[in-house]
Amino acid sequence: MVKEIKRKSGRKADEMRPISAKVGIIPNADGSAMYKSGETIAIAAVYGPKKMHPQHSQNPAKGTLRCTYSMLSFSVTDRIRPGPNRRSTEISKIIEWALDPVVMLDNYPNMVVDVHIHMTQADAGTRCAGINAAAMALAHAGIPMKNMVSSIAAGKLDKTVVLDLDKYEDSDFEEGEGSTDIPMSFTDDGKLTHIQVDGYISKEQLKQAIEMAKKASGKIYEVQEKALKEIEK
Ligand code: CDP
Repeated sequence: MVKEIKRKSGRKADEMRPISAKVGIIPNADGSAMYKSGETIAIAAVYGPKKMHPQHSQNPAKGTLRCTYSMLSFSVTDRIRPGPNRRSTEISKIIEWALDPVVMLDNYPNMVVDVHIHMTQADAGTRCAGINAAAMALAHAGIPMKNMVSSIAAGKLDKTVVLDLDKYEDSDFEEGEGSTDIPMSFTDDGKLTHIQVDGYISKEQLKQAIEMAKKASGKIYEVQEKALKEIEK
C-alpha cells in the first residue's frame, strides 16, 4: 500500500510523469534518441566506435564508453553558462557508470564510443532522462549491449516515499522534512546499475523507493523498446 500524499502536480505517490521516446532523431549520428519525462527532455547522439585520440587514452584491452552531458543554456529559467562545469562533469561520469555494465566493448580495443547527451529542457531527473536516451541511442547505433537500461528517481517528500520528483519537489519543496532524491538505473532484468542518494532516508524507506523505481523502470523499458522497434519498420 502506498500512502497518499498531496503532490503539487496532482500525481499519486507512485505515479511518474508522462513519458515518451523517439529513436533516430539525428540523421548524421550513428545512433540517436530522445526521451521526454514531463517537462524534462533529453537528446542523445552516438558517434563511433572510432579510433581513440589522444593515443595515450587508448585501452588495448577493450573499447571505451565516453559520455558527455550538458544542459543547453535556455533549458532552465536562469540561463546556464555554456561549457563544462563540475556538475556536468560528474553527471557525465555517472551516465558512463550506469551504462558501462551493459555495453560490450571487448571487441573494440583502442576505440571509443562517444555519447553526447543534451538537455533541451530540464525540470529535474535529467540524469535519468539522459541515461534513457543514451541507452536507446547506443542500441540504435548497433553497439552490442547485454541489456537495455532504464532510469528513474524515487525519493521522499516530507515523510512519504514518492516516485519521480520534479523540479519543485526536488529543490523547492520545503514542508516538513523536505525532500530526498534517489536516481537509479536498472537493466531490463531488474539489476541495479546505478544509485545515488541525495538526502536522508531510512533503510526501510530506501527499500520501498528501490522497489517503486524498479517497477517504474519496467514501464520505461516498454516505451524504449517500442521506440526502437518503430525505427526498424
Ligand atoms: O537533473 P537531475 O535531477 O539529474 O540533477 P540535479 O543536479 O538534482 O538537478 C535538478 C534540477 O535542478 C535540474 O533538472 C534543473 O531543472 C535544475 N538545475 C538548474 O536549474 N540549474 C542548474 N545549474 C542545475 C540544475
